[in-house]
Amino acid sequence: MRYIIQTIGCQMNICQSDEISKELNSKGLIKVLDRESADIIILNTCSVRAQAEQKAFSFLGRVCDLKQKNEAVKIIVIGCMAQRMKSKIKKRFKQVDLIIGTDRETPEIVNQILQLININNEVESPVEFLDLNTNNEVSKFVTITKGCSNYCSYCVVPFVRGKERARDFDEIIEECRNFSKQGAREVILLGQNVNSYNFNGFNFVDLLKEVSKISSIKRISFMTNHPKDLTLDLIQTIASFDKISKHVHLPLQSGSDEILKKMNRNYTLAHYKNLISLLRQNIKNISITTDVIVGFPSETDEDFLKTLETIKEIAFDGLYVFKYSPRPNTLAATFIDDVSQEKKKERLAIILKESNDISQKIVAGMVNTKQTVLITAFNGRSLEGQTETGRKVFMEGGRENIGKLCSVFITSAKINSLFGEICNEI
Ligand code: SAH
Ligand code: SF4
Ligand code: F3S
Repeated sequence: MRYIIQTIGCQMNICQSDEISKELNSKGLIKVLDRESADIIILNTCSVRAQAEQKAFSFLGRVCDLKQKNEAVKIIVIGCMAQRMKSKIKKRFKQVDLIIGTDRETPEIVNQILQLININNEVESPVEFLDLNTNNEVSKFVTITKGCSNYCSYCVVPFVRGKERARDFDEIIEECRNFSKQGAREVILLGQNVNSYNFNGFNFVDLLKEVSKISSIKRISFMTNHPKDLTLDLIQTIASFDKISKHVHLPLQSGSDEILKKMNRNYTLAHYKNLISLLRQNIKNISITTDVIVGFPSETDEDFLKTLETIKEIAFDGLYVFKYSPRPNTLAATFIDDVSQEKKKERLAIILKESNDISQKIVAGMVNTKQTVLITAFNGRSLEGQTETGRKVFMEGGRENIGKLCSVFITSAKINSLFGEICNEI
């Protein structure tokens, strides 16, 4: 049987889709990339913005048409949108066979999928199945917290993923160890706010220190950070362990204190800027990226200019910018969405232009320098890797280099990628 798994949304979803794929592959199912040739179509959904939901709806429209031609095809919807609007999906897309929300754990989801296609979960695949998508991967996602309790006023995540739950400390370490035994050289610790990790008194710094003891793990990355919980202790830990990635994703959202307050972010611009100074003072070559929302209810031209000024001043290494999208159940959905679509579009374009200009300058400045690169994949033509600061680098060389941490001389740069030559393994 062939299946396709289409993923919309954040790393949490990518991680879960990977886990599901791994299980299905171990039962002998074959992953394909085009939906026309699939017997099972799985859609992992996101609700963070209306656009993400529209994307899922149009995907479902297309695959339901496919099912009209071939009734044997099974359609399964999982993820945040399945949680938020199960009955609506059921009503609108009658051909969908299974809708499972985020209140179910991954093993249960896999079981339900297997039941649907009449595969007995107890029977092991007769052949040892080599899962090329996971077994040979150098970088592995490891979820450390689920859900979120921050209730930023615009955000649907606490409603679709529930309150924050920290995963068992030892279980996380065990998973990292297992991945390292299977060949992983990088673990990417995931949570909506990794800084607030706390399991029986063990915090995020304790976790980073413990993971760093696994000798074959050469890089530890993590996301996302919340400015209200990023401590000096954490900053100093990042600085003092070579293995810990020098990339911090620290969503700003807005440069206006008034808007930050209405967003319920629990920090001021001054606090945010102070964190940036601390990061830059303590960590040589730190890369800082961010998220920004434009057109939040009541955002004036003046508020927006404060955001733009902040972006210019901080000169982020990378930036994601989103137009505000009202989400059902959230507090902000009760505010009047009074910034017009045109204004939102205009503000988005201004921020994008600014951040691209900054990014280009940063990338150009990396040409003719040596960078420490973890080589993660071979794309058929060249090797791919990431610098310590999370930038993508393409290099010539063979597959045998995958998994190596190398010193790479950067020869040229394009908007978001670097090209380099491997000097030596570190
Ligand atoms: N937990 C992470 C981010 C989760 S969502 C964090 O707090 O950093 C990723 C990004 O989507 C957010 O940082 C925010 O910029 C954006 N986002 C969330 N809800 C949104 C909404 N309703 N409209 C527009 N952008 C939104
Ligand atoms: Fe949403 Fe805020 Fe939680 Fe991030 S921290 S997931 S933006 S509620
Ligand atoms: Fe989207 Fe759910 Fe992640 S709403 S951003 S997939 S937690």
